[in-house]
Amino acid sequence: MTYVLSIIGGQFGDEGKGKITDMLAKSADVVARSGGGNNAGHTIVKDGKKFAFHLLPSGVLYDHTINIIGPGVKLDPLKLLEEIEGLKKQGISPNLKISPRAHLIMDWHREFDKGAEARLGDQKIGTTGCGVGPSTEATANRKASLRAQDLASDDFPQKLRSVLNLLLTRLVEYHPSFKKFQKLSIETILRCEDKDLIDGLEDYAKKIEEMYLSAIKTLKPLVTEIISIVHDKKHKFLLGEGAQGAMLDPLLGTFPDVTSTHPTAGGMCIGLGIGPLDIDDVMGIFKAYETRVGSGPFETELFDQDGEKLRDIGREFGTTTGRPRRCGWFNLDEARYVCQINSISWITLTKLDVLDDFDSIKVLVDGRYKEFPGWNKDLGSCRDWEDLPSEAKAYIEFLKKELGDISIISVGPSVEQTIIMPAFKKRLESFKISIDF
Ligand code: IMP
Repeated sequence: MTYVLSIIGGQFGDEGKGKITDMLAKSADVVARSGGGNNAGHTIVKDGKKFAFHLLPSGVLYDHTINIIGPGVKLDPLKLLEEIEGLKKQGISPNLKISPRAHLIMDWHREFDKGAEARLGDQKIGTTGCGVGPSTEATANRKASLRAQDLASDDFPQKLRSVLNLLLTRLVEYHPSFKKFQKLSIETILRCEDKDLIDGLEDYAKKIEEMYLSAIKTLKPLVTEIISIVHDKKHKFLLGEGAQGAMLDPLLGTFPDVTSTHPTAGGMCIGLGIGPLDIDDVMGIFKAYETRVGSGPFETELFDQDGEKLRDIGREFGTTTGRPRRCGWFNLDEARYVCQINSISWITLTKLDVLDDFDSIKVLVDGRYKEFPGWNKDLGSCRDWEDLPSEAKAYIEFLKKELGDISIISVGPSVEQTIIMPAFKKRLESFKISIDF
């Protein structure tokens, strides 16, 4: 029997999923990424070495773990190659399997992403510029997308040319290599009549083939059907690793300021090829306050010294883009909605220690702020619930009453700075899983 735990971000991403996933990955047999692309990112420190991952699942540092890039992931082959090579330099060969169904992010998607954002000006989404959105558009278009199985196939050159042909007008609009054709009429471009344009397209196709040569060589042997692995009952523990956060879901989040894959529990089902009833628990990761990068509504955003203080103490700068994150108080109204739409069964609270120096802590409840007294103590050395000051306990008890059972509380960046709640330990033990870190 397999225990399937789905980990999802409960806010706008950057909730500190990385540390929690990494901790749990150590006990997992399978760690499977279900969505997002290299727009996500987290850093893992192991044996004093720092690893920055954007695409690789969190279990790659453990020998016993099978790591899966699921059908829902937007896969940039060049970025994945970089990450794999980075690991190999450190003497690590990850046990990685890539779903043939995962759609690719190609060179042109990055250009489309940047071009579209530049055109939107003040109205821009504030994307990470990784090309995730345009790759998802291509999935919806169907004929204009390439998948991992195409990368691994001998027909790759033909498929590449067929896709590029379909994308001709957008290439001319957004890709620097095609800028010189912007003087042509739209009819000429659409009919692909111009000799220079035909040659330009072939030159670009050849350039792409060359650019992706090493990636194809490294990734081809890793492309394999993953459905039998995620459904293999001999695995004791499958960890579904979500990216971003539920409020960035294109259907359920703050549309149009959202990402393009589905960072929700439902998204994890299609992103891994599992049904809703295959999931035993959904863990929602919430920061003890809230942050957001990019544009879009953020009800509890702070524009005062408290906001700056949260950013400074919490080191709130984007892992992928380095952008300063917008900071605000915990939004309970939003968290209730997130718990509802994801069937969250366990709440994990991260970065509680960032609130150590605040005299008062606010939470948005029913459209108004409720205030809690701060604890003005360093939580970094707390290891058990009993170690927490009464004010911190009161804050967490309130969230628990409103949202549900607490599984893990993080009180600092290192793995040791973690409180695992007895009820969650018991739940894992019922599946014969013990967490050791
Ligand atoms: P995209 O996913 O690059 O298209 O960006 C769309 C929105 O999602 C922007 O507001 C990004 O800042 C946000 N976003 C994408 N990935 C992450 C992430 O990993 N953490 C936080 N925000 C993200």
